[in-house]
Amino acid sequence: MLLQALRLENFRNIEFAEFEPHPRFNVFSGANGQGKTNLLESIYLLSAVKSFRPQTNQSLIRHDQDEAVLQGRVDRGGMQRIVKVSIGKTGKKVFLNNSPVRNLSDFFGTLNVIVFGPEDIQILKGSPSERRRFIDRAIFNARPGFAIETQSYEDLLKQRNAVLKSESVDAALLDIYNEQLIQYGSDIIERRIGFLDQFRPVLNATFQSIFDTSFEADLTYDFRWMDNAPKAGELTRIDIETLLEQALKSSYPEERARGFTVVGPHRDDLKATLNDFEVKTYASQGQHRAFVLAMKIAQIRYLEEQYGFAPILLLDDVSSELDRERNRYLFEFLHDRDDGQVFITTTHRDYILLSDEIVNYSIENGVVRTSN
Ligand SMILES: Nc1ncnc2c1ncn2[C@@H]1O[C@H](COP(=O)(O)OP(=O)(O)OP(=O)(O)O)[C@@H](O)[C@H]1O
Ligand SMILES: [Mg+2]
Repeated sequence: MLLQALRLENFRNIEFAEFEPHPRFNVFSGANGQGKTNLLESIYLLSAVKSFRPQTNQSLIRHDQDEAVLQGRVDRGGMQRIVKVSIGKTGKKVFLNNSPVRNLSDFFGTLNVIVFGPEDIQILKGSPSERRRFIDRAIFNARPGFAIETQSYEDLLKQRNAVLKSESVDAALLDIYNEQLIQYGSDIIERRIGFLDQFRPVLNATFQSIFDTSFEADLTYDFRWMDNAPKAGELTRIDIETLLEQALKSSYPEERARGFTVVGPHRDDLKATLNDFEVKTYASQGQHRAFVLAMKIAQIRYLEEQYGFAPILLLDDVSSELDRERNRYLFEFLHDRDDGQVFITTTHRDYILLSDEIVNYSIENGVVRTSN
């Protein structure tokens, strides 16, 4: 998968940029606040339509302008497509080959990107929502329709919470929402567990090659809406539905008292372990970083091995967050892959240990220039 051309208008501090990226390595150097992350964010938006950081539409549009327009030409296995997202103050419009896209599931999957940024280094220390985001994005890359499934689930939660908050509960309506929660919730849990099944061996192998083969790295599903949860890998679809149904029954008094849904995949977490010890509390700083790097690299390997394509990689200033050894490993990995397009930002070009198949750019005050 290649992004062959990119064109941006009035996106954040980038008034205009147009270039044809290198099929392998594109390195963007610039001081703080010049637009490096903005550039990667634009590529991410062309893939997922929303940003990797929570944003209003307004904040994505260059100050004093009404509309931002992002456009890319994507090649996948020789087939070219034009993706376009225009962002107005009240909403976004999405186009594929210049035709408006009515159903986003027709658009998702056209461009696959994996982003790795400074916040990701904290992924194991931060709140469960960050690890849910990791797994859901990883699944989205493999199964683009998953974004629609998670959105339907979020919409359902809003409606169900409104019923729980209301003065007198409409029991018939709540029954309908419970049934939907069991179905949509099981869909999400089943996908996450299925993903982990395939992902865990890749993760362990990657961790061992980065760090040390005396450690077993693992990432397991952590149900947070039931006590004494059974092992996720052993559950069937029917089991998951039954567990959700039981938990909804027993949690009703609590849900009613708190006015929101406490049962379901929106509560769940992932547990990262090294030799069965939790990374969050036991691992050294270096092991912690190696684990996160392994999660990202394993995600790429997983897509390549299971689905046979190389996603586009967006590396936002990660070299400044990794220690020297981990940084060297990352670039060895990138260099040794046969293909795969990469966009890298940095404040210090020296961190980027690449010299072949590369175009260097500078970014200053939102202006992108080729510099070699
Ligand atoms: N809607 C907008 N219109 C104009 N400028 C904006 C808009 N949104 C953000 N900016 C500007 O973009 C700049 C930030 O860009 P960005 O986050 O890409 O910086 P960066 O080069 O990644 O910096 P760092 O190295 O600190 O991460 C800031 O100067 C900010 O004021
Ligand atoms: Mg930045």
